[in-house]
Amino acid sequence: MKKNKIKELGIVEMKNFLSYDEKIEEKTNTFEKIMIIYEMAIEELKTKINILQKEFKVFYNYDLIDHVNSRIKKPESIINKMKKKGNELTYKEMIQNINDIAGVRIVCQLKDDIFKIRNLVEKIPGINIEKEKDYVNHPKESGYSSYHMIVKVPVTLSKQIIYVKVEIQIRTMAMDFWASLEHKMKYKTDKQINKKDSKELVNYAKIVNKMDNKIMLMNN
Ligand code: GTP
Ligand code: MG
Repeated sequence: MKKNKIKELGIVEMKNFLSYDEKIEEKTNTFEKIMIIYEMAIEELKTKINILQKEFKVFYNYDLIDHVNSRIKKPESIINKMKKKGNELTYKEMIQNINDIAGVRIVCQLKDDIFKIRNLVEKIPGINIEKEKDYVNHPKESGYSSYHMIVKVPVTLSKQIIYVKVEIQIRTMAMDFWASLEHKMKYKTDKQINKKDSKELVNYAKIVNKMDNKIMLMNN
């Protein structure tokens, strides 16, 4: 798009886009419209990441990115999270406080590729980094490891550009395997997992990390 065309378009923060002070009601027009904007942001970002993936494969014969997943958070999960955080159940509070309504996960083979991908994401024109968390160099107590970015993605509509928050998780295939397993065991089962299993999972995370380090060295 030409520069002067962009000038004509107002740049709007998501929270000012519609009348957001209204109370959240699932399965209403407003809710659906907002979710569609988040979907647009995912599409926008995914296209750019797919281009990088293809570029590295075709021009450098290098599998920088193995695959990319995305998801929109379910309405009930959004509302549960807001209640837990003590947010008022309005759209404005939702957009301001829930950073992972739109989520994109980038999975790669090698640990050091995580940071290459992070640097490439930073360079995508228009994408602004809001927040970053490095659970690769600083894994969580649970053993969880990944690189997290909250970015703002511009979605260009006919009358305005809306900046939309998207959570990006960058991790290796091994980290992804561990996180899926742990997530299933910890969140998807009704019963709490016992201390022994919990410790075992932390242990597995350490093994996964060792493996990632060795594979990285092998490839260098
Ligand atoms: P939420 O965890 O989403 O409430 O936000 P936060 O501000 O604590 O963000 P954080 O970056 O710590 O985690 C965000 C996301 O990372 C989660 O929604 C999960 O997808 C993932 N995650 C964080 N910790 C763990 C963990 O211990 N195990 C697994 N499997 N996933 C995790
Ligand atoms: Mg989350």
